Amino acid sequence: MRDSRLKRPLNRLKLTPIGVAANIPIRVFRALGESGPRLGKILAWGFQSREDTNFTYNLTDDNLFYLAHTIAVVTGADIQTVRTYIREAESDDTLKQTVITALQNSRFRFVSDARCEFGRRLGWYAFVRILKPQIVVETGVDKGLGAILLCAALMKNRSEGVDGRYYGTDINPEAGWLLRRPYSELGEILVGDSIQSLLKFPGRIDLFINDSEHSAEYEYREYQTVAPKLTERAVVLGDNAHVTAMLAKFASESGMKFLYFQEMSRDHWYPGAGIGIAFKVASGDSRMHLEARP
Ligand SMILES: C[S@@+](CC[C@H](N)C(=O)[O-])C[C@H]1O[C@@H](n2cnc3c(N)ncnc32)[C@H](O)[C@@H]1O
Repeated sequence: MRDSRLKRPLNRLKLTPIGVAANIPIRVFRALGESGPRLGKILAWGFQSREDTNFTYNLTDDNLFYLAHTIAVVTGADIQTVRTYIREAESDDTLKQTVITALQNSRFRFVSDARCEFGRRLGWYAFVRILKPQIVVETGVDKGLGAILLCAALMKNRSEGVDGRYYGTDINPEAGWLLRRPYSELGEILVGDSIQSLLKFPGRIDLFINDSEHSAEYEYREYQTVAPKLTERAVVLGDNAHVTAMLAKFASESGMKFLYFQEMSRDHWYPGAGIGIAFKVASGDSRMHLEARP
């Protein structure tokens, strides 16, 4: 062979049956080298952070760009419009300060960090700003980081003349302690098992976010329970799509399209979760987009 690399004996050896075995330690050490920086981040995080679940972090700039493009594909909104909404949330100092003050004063402050980093939830915010939903439901509220951000988006919509309301469901009666006034005026938390709350829910849902019990079976049952309550233009987001394909399955069975966005965390050992997106395409519309409200 003419490849000059093959002049080296080791490279020639790789192309023989003995080379397969000889190459094993080289490949394994190279892969282990990739883990080094991550191990460093894990150690630093162990001392610098107090979070022990539902980690928070920022996304890389490129990843936010990908997120904006994904939302543009789903909604048909212009990419600059989506980016403007994402920046609107990122630069909302009143919102951030409300979150940080609530974190500092909470009895959960020893298992939380006094930071406000929304990660993929910025995508949830942009969906609310673009779709202008009347009813948003999020199952699984935890501290309420998603809840307050979604209510902040509804508040902006209201300032532009479009009313909407947020409903969170959580089995933990203490969930949602970040959702403070004035944001809490736009929403409420339904305490109890999500599926039971969804069965009783009287309204029609424009934006549904699944983030409660993360077993595949429970997640799928949530989608099935909520299906008859979704409006024609509803978008369903799954916060467990990096773990199960249940939202993709639900989308296939309900004539919806499905896309998956993968988070890339910035400066955190946790590589990131994802957003599963199930959405309907308006009939007669060959483009993959929904009618965004004016
Ligand atoms: C991953 S956290 C939610 C995070 C939140 N969406 C956010 O933006 O940070 C999951 C939440 O689901 C709740 N949960 C677990 N099982 C549940 C169930 N069967 N019904 C309702 N909530 C449940 C937990 O109490 C927990 O607060």
